[in-house]
Amino acid sequence: MPATIISGIETAKAIREEIGIEVRRLKQEYNIIPGLVTILVGDDPASQSYVAAKNRTAEALGIFSEQVTLPAITAEVDVLRIIDEANRNPAIHGILVQLPLPRHINETKVLFTIDPDKDVDGFHPVNVGKMLLGEQCFLPCTPNGILELLRRSGVETSGAEVVVIGRSNIVGKPVASLMLQKREGGNATVTVCHTRTRDMGFHTRRADILIVAAGVARMIKADQIKEGAVIIDVGINRVGQAANGKAILAGDVDFNDVVGKAGAITPVPGGVGPMTITMLMQNTLQAAKRAARIDG
Ligand code: GUN
Repeated sequence: MPATIISGIETAKAIREEIGIEVRRLKQEYNIIPGLVTILVGDDPASQSYVAAKNRTAEALGIFSEQVTLPAITAEVDVLRIIDEANRNPAIHGILVQLPLPRHINETKVLFTIDPDKDVDGFHPVNVGKMLLGEQCFLPCTPNGILELLRRSGVETSGAEVVVIGRSNIVGKPVASLMLQKREGGNATVTVCHTRTRDMGFHTRRADILIVAAGVARMIKADQIKEGAVIIDVGINRVGQAANGKAILAGDVDFNDVVGKAGAITPVPGGVGPMTITMLMQNTLQAAKRAARIDG
């Protein structure tokens, strides 16, 4: 039997409806409009399209959004100044600096400059530390989106063997940490594989839930997974260009090869991607509520 397709589009749509209702309530009851600023440095086409999607989604939900687009040669000090202004602007509740940054800009310095209370990406060390400790904080959007997708799809994580491929600060490390937490949506036995892992297949074939965030197109084949496994494909790789100029995308999982063996699988596009953006909206809404000391 072919795998169940876990649709990020459908799940994200349901969550966005809930967010839209709450945004309207904030406006009606408190006259508050959540505000997000996105900062894009350079002209990487993938980053341009991600940031555009984030701003489009914000506007569709009634969230104020401002995109700051800077040339690749922008000095680090100018990026820091823009963040500082946003930190002090009471109409802005969330600040997102799209990664990666050009090489001459120190990513750590940039992320440390964002006010932790406006860090809707969950990348500031204060939020990373709180996440690790299981404290209330802004959770990073892709890992949180994966957990939400599993939860809303009825996938049991407690006691499950979860294997994560990739150890990035944005996906691999935080998703491993969240799946370990002693709480609903966590309680998994977690293994993290990376470029120095000796026998990747040994680990992936044991996985009840396999989360792939390696950035290598179609690297996971059917012989590397367990029958009935839940496959979460985080990869978005540009593998070509269609006649209309649009990028052809492929995940890190060879979907056609794996779909007959897996129990459930996220497609690319339309899997984890829409969830990442939706979690960003949820964090921005939370940031606005916290700034106004509104519970819930
Ligand atoms: N680049 C790739 N993923 C992300 C993300 O979730 N947030 C930011 N800011 N940059 C990214």
